[in-house]
Amino acid sequence: MIHSARFLVSSSDVDQCPKYSFAEYAFIGRSNVGKSSLINALTNNKKLAKTSGTPGKTKLINHFVINESWFLVDLPGYGYAKLPKQGRNEIKKLIHGYFEKRKQLINTFVLIDSRHKPQKIDINFINMLGVNQHAFSIVFTKIDKLSEKQRRDNLSHYQSHLLEQGWESIPPMFESSAKTGEGKEEIINYIASINSNL
Ligand code: GTP
Ligand code: MG
Repeated sequence: MIHSARFLVSSSDVDQCPKYSFAEYAFIGRSNVGKSSLINALTNNKKLAKTSGTPGKTKLINHFVINESWFLVDLPGYGYAKLPKQGRNEIKKLIHGYFEKRKQLINTFVLIDSRHKPQKIDINFINMLGVNQHAFSIVFTKIDKLSEKQRRDNLSHYQSHLLEQGWESIPPMFESSAKTGEGKEEIINYIASINSNL
């Protein structure tokens, strides 16, 4: 259960992130995949994280305090081709610095647009998490835009693709819609179950 959620701080570098040892859950994925919208859906607050129809909205590391005891972290998206090269490099550095150094990070939710076939940039990111032994889960976003059949086809295709990549097991997977609220409860319960075992 989430009973309180508040914005704490935006950081332009992992070294500026809050020092508390709260357990931290990060949301990452391509620009425009719905990271900020999902955080708002989970916390029932449409204004908590800034969202936009135009990719590249979130540019910093944003910490939100949940139930005064743990963090949700909204990260900038990767893979936004229209940013100038320097901007893209800065975001890449920020994201990689965060995953390299952030000790409080307990689990990462990698968001994947449920409408698309597996994309190299997402697979590379997932592989990077695996190589560095970061715990992660996959969240298929914008599920409201798919029919039942498309949903089943796309998800099973994604699972087979991961297995072909040499993953021995499939990470936890969630289907979500920030629009209908589908998947919220499962994600919140998943976090709660991890928190209760820390
Ligand atoms: P960046 O901060 O730019 O990396 O993007 P983001 O991943 O935070 O995406 P954001 O939450 O800003 O959402 C991008 C667009 O997708 C917005 O127009 C949202 O309204 C829309 N969107 C996000 N989630 C959903 C969803 O589950 N269903 C539908 N239909 N639209 C969604
Ligand atoms: Mg965002």
